[in-house]
Amino acid sequence: MSTYAYKNSQEVISQEAAVMAKTFNRQPVVWARGEGCRLWDKEGKAYLDFFAGHAVMNLGYAHPAQTAAMQAQMAALVHTGNLYYTEAQVELAKRLTESTFGNKVLFSNSGAEIVELAIKLARKWARRERPDEQRFEILTMKGSFHGRTYGALTATGQEKLHQGIEPLLPGFKYVPFNNFVGAASGITNRTCAIMLEPVQGEGGITPADKKYLQALRNLCDQNHLLLIFDEIQCGLGRLGTRNAYEAFDVVPDILLVAKPLGGGLPISALVTRAEVASALQVGDHGSTFGGNPVAAAAGCVLLAEVARPGFLENVKSTGEYFGKKLAELGEKHPGLVQAVRGLGLMWGMELSHSGPEAVRAALGKGLVINCTAGKVLRFLPPLIVGRPEVDEACQILDAVLAALERSKEA
Ligand SMILES: Cc1ncc(COP(=O)(O)O)c(C=O)c1O
Repeated sequence: MSTYAYKNSQEVISQEAAVMAKTFNRQPVVWARGEGCRLWDKEGKAYLDFFAGHAVMNLGYAHPAQTAAMQAQMAALVHTGNLYYTEAQVELAKRLTESTFGNKVLFSNSGAEIVELAIKLARKWARRERPDEQRFEILTMKGSFHGRTYGALTATGQEKLHQGIEPLLPGFKYVPFNNFVGAASGITNRTCAIMLEPVQGEGGITPADKKYLQALRNLCDQNHLLLIFDEIQCGLGRLGTRNAYEAFDVVPDILLVAKPLGGGLPISALVTRAEVASALQVGDHGSTFGGNPVAAAAGCVLLAEVARPGFLENVKSTGEYFGKKLAELGEKHPGLVQAVRGLGLMWGMELSHSGPEAVRAALGKGLVINCTAGKVLRFLPPLIVGRPEVDEACQILDAVLAALERSKEA
């Protein structure tokens, strides 16, 4: 039962166009509810979801334990602000230290905000470590994505996202991704850190090479720079390891997580070691909502589930199976599919054309996917997905690709 008076999806969509400024190309669907890997629209049609609200609903929709934890915390206490303690926030920080290399945690609300905090921390740290130098520059990668606030957007190495909003924040240099020489030659006496996504998400689902990340680790050690991993999209179990960095055998100095942490509620975290965190003093970071207890309660359940025996094994084995099936589809539709890339349950299928059309056609057939970097179909299913759902998704995808090929020939 809806709380609102809209008669059908079309009425909601028309009203949105009337009252909201347009910054999204939304799909023509109004979601009413979700359960597991399925979503239902306002008219009651069921869909298989291979996008998980942008890699957020990693335990699926209406996960019983996560929902119960959120409801219990909500009934007890929704918010207090950060001048006081809550058990949920402290417990989540404790669990994050137990499941990562770090021993200190800072909270915020969104991916972009935690990137902002990492930028501030890197600059503060560099000033403390080498007070006689002017080190504030952060190397980031071409094709990266770090968020929509000014600092995070400046860190984002995509020119098209910078157009019309200049001047940007000073102190960033973009170097080519997966190119060690580019990074090494980008370092100057102003550099304080290197920040990157172990798997570029918005940039087209491009995993870093293991050797490249390991070489960046050495480069940072040799030059006394911080290595910052933005695992906002690829972290917290998505690659089949507790954290993305574990899939590459590289430990960063600063780890950023967000999206799935709050089970659909906004929360983000920066994890680091005490000797880095101590560059921040009381008053250097603040947030009214950051580390909200309801979101933190959801985060505690997420980390407990990811640590449960069999959870990550499912991500790995279902992910490998999915990758194989996508590669088979690539071989079946060579005129359209240019590449298949991914790791764990984070996959991209690069098309020669018609990415947005494929997304729309898949939706029509009951499969929710997304397109990034213009023509890369992006698959980010809930991490509880199994082989039957993968088979179902690939069957729909096969039909979508075949129809696109036919329409091109016609
Ligand atoms: C790797 C990465 N970093 C940062 C962000 C920004 O997160 P948010 O939208 O929560 O600000 C995103 C969002 O897509 C992301 O994928």
